Amino acid sequence: MIQIDKNDAQVGTVAETNSISPRVVISVRGLSKSFEGVSVLRDLDADIRKGEIVSIIGPSGAGKSTFLRCLNLLETPDSGTILIDGEDAEKMDVRYLRRKMGMVFQQFNLFPHLSALENIMLAPKTLLNESYEDVRAYALDLLEKVGLAGKAWAFPSELSGGQQQRVAIARALAMHPEIMLFDEPTSALDPTMVNEVLGVIRSLADESGMTMAIVTHEMRFAREVSDRIFYMDQGIVYEEGPADQIFDRPRRDRTRAFIRRVDTIRYDLDKDFDYYGFDAKIDDFAMKHLVEQDRRELLVQLVEELFDNFFFLKVEELTFTLGVTEKKDVELRFAYGGPELNPLVSDDAASLFAKNIIVKNCTEIEFSIIDGKNVLEFTLPAKKL
Ligand SMILES: Nc1ncnc2c1ncn2[C@@H]1O[C@H](COP(=O)(O)OP(=O)(O)OP(=O)(O)O)[C@@H](O)[C@H]1O
Ligand SMILES: [Mg+2]
Repeated sequence: MIQIDKNDAQVGTVAETNSISPRVVISVRGLSKSFEGVSVLRDLDADIRKGEIVSIIGPSGAGKSTFLRCLNLLETPDSGTILIDGEDAEKMDVRYLRRKMGMVFQQFNLFPHLSALENIMLAPKTLLNESYEDVRAYALDLLEKVGLAGKAWAFPSELSGGQQQRVAIARALAMHPEIMLFDEPTSALDPTMVNEVLGVIRSLADESGMTMAIVTHEMRFAREVSDRIFYMDQGIVYEEGPADQIFDRPRRDRTRAFIRRVDTIRYDLDKDFDYYGFDAKIDDFAMKHLVEQDRRELLVQLVEELFDNFFFLKVEELTFTLGVTEKKDVELRFAYGGPELNPLVSDDAASLFAKNIIVKNCTEIEFSIIDGKNVLEFTLPAKKL
């Protein structure tokens, strides 16, 4: 059992770790990290065993990415220890550490001027002590494994997002890592491509015996693929346990509230954002969750009003999260930087219309400033039967 929260009397300590379980390969104690005075990881403890698949879920800003980035020293922890196979990560040679631990990000970051095959071969060619032929043969094997045998010579621009992400996975595997870290590997993808990438990760999980930590918003996937789930909240692993526990019988309040949101989609939008088709996606998402037509129409209208008359005019970047709970409540959340700006108190005529729709139809309307960002949330509640 793992100590997940120092304030929780139920939890055990690390010394109790079951002796028949495989050895712990990632052991984190008291990990803390702040950015500009804002505490993001707060005394986080976690253990991951060899061959274990751990999915990390939790709200935006919980510190999930920061946690993964600390593991392979893309961020330097302020305090705490990270042991990788018993060795202090901060004292390890960074190149050795990153070879042991591959990482795949939301953005694939392939080199645009290199083919898929060359992207995969680049690091092993320079860093591994292997012959060119061996590196090439293994890269071709990996391309086949991720279902891209025919795309060796394609450039990233000639590949779909899903294909690029599969190349990025192959590229990480080319270094023969023992551990793979995935940070939302599917959230930059068009919904039609999510499954092909999850399929590759799933088969890796099934076949390789590799240790994996996967930050994901894909709850069904997390449930199916994981040995354990970490629910992160406010900079700690707030609750951890097998998928059944976390999804069906969460023990703690904030886990329960999070899980209640059965599905969410998130859009990171900027000024160049292509609005075309956006309302259709929102409608599709709501339809998938059996939200009735009149509420879907209201939802689309409301989002359109807010964007057309407010966000497009006043906000540079925005994260929009849309969730549907088990009760079919539709939850909306808009987070954006800049000076304090609340459309609900704005007095210009344009935003008034959106405001009226919200006030008339929505509940749990809340505007707050969280970590320096404007956050507007409200719920379009399910109809009472
Ligand atoms: N390099 C950085 N500089 C300043 N602040 C940062 C940096 N990296 C992360 N943060 C802040 O730390 C907090 C946690 O960020 P993190 O990316 O770890 O969250 P997350 O759980 O991965 O969220 P999401 O689900 O949105 O990806 C956020 O408030 C973020 O703005
Ligand atoms: Mg993140």
